[in-house]
Amino acid sequence: MADRHRDASAIVRSRGPSLEAASLETSPRAHARLLTADVIDGKAMAAALRMRVADEVRGLASTHAIVPGLAVVLVGNDPASEIYTATKKKMSAQVGMRSFAEHLPASTSETALIRLIERLNGDHDVHGILVQLPLPAHIDPLKVITAINPAKDVDGFHPLNVGRLAIAHAALTPCTPLACIMLAKSVHPSFAGLEAMVIGRSTIVGKPLAQLLLAENATVTVAHSKSSDLPALARRADLLFAAVGRPELVRKDWIKPGATVIDVGINRITRDGKPQIVGDVAFEEASSVAGAITPVPGGVGPMTIACLLVNTLRAACALSSLPSPGL
Ligand code: GUN
Repeated sequence: MADRHRDASAIVRSRGPSLEAASLETSPRAHARLLTADVIDGKAMAAALRMRVADEVRGLASTHAIVPGLAVVLVGNDPASEIYTATKKKMSAQVGMRSFAEHLPASTSETALIRLIERLNGDHDVHGILVQLPLPAHIDPLKVITAINPAKDVDGFHPLNVGRLAIAHAALTPCTPLACIMLAKSVHPSFAGLEAMVIGRSTIVGKPLAQLLLAENATVTVAHSKSSDLPALARRADLLFAAVGRPELVRKDWIKPGATVIDVGINRITRDGKPQIVGDVAFEEASSVAGAITPVPGGVGPMTIACLLVNTLRAACALSSLPSPGL
């Protein structure tokens, strides 16, 4: 953990004595001590990143008369998707972007949706297109994503962008993995020599995250529901990313003392008769072993939306043959 540093803007709330010193000790007394992780404040990091995006957007408007535009397409009435898309729309407007919301009924045909995407592809005011997933069952998401102009694919889901990420020539990178990397980097500026484990192999988080971690020189394991002895695998990780959508799957005995834990899960549960949102990690008990940890909510979620704004800004610059902003 020699490279661990504390960025005051990133890790705002420190929850007590750091584990790093204690984890180097081997006496039973060291283990008996109350140890609590630093909480990585994704909300504060996201606010800082959005301010930087807003600065760049102002510069782009005054220097080149370009206002980045983001089109968010929602099909149907999934309540969680409605909340996510409303937040994306609000945040893009807040940083000075144009925001275009397209809300279509659940009965929309695949052909009609692709026609809308083709219209957005040709609209010069739209630099980023995001189709909120999941789509209704009668629509093939791959066909829809493939219809998006790869240069406007701010989700980074188009096969061309997926391929570019695999050969380390990413143009537009999926937002949640990008957010995970930024959060982990607030603790470890370099991942060289670190063991990283990603629990979950989804196309939108697990797989692209593994690619980004490899590009950052981490030694990467991707585990999933068919992996044997997940806890033992997880305990090897200096950087542990949980992205499986299983409430509080990761317990404290899955965590290497001092590890950095990034929780991608957003799970709605009922506890003591009350609705609650929890991550894929049992936060309280994990905090007694981890060195640093993201909370849910307030960790990966806000950073993911901030990364979407970064991608929209990058797309706007690239479409106008301007250099990418150094964010
Ligand atoms: N649904 C859940 N996460 C995402 C995401 O990152 N992008 C899109 N388009 N849909 C999602």
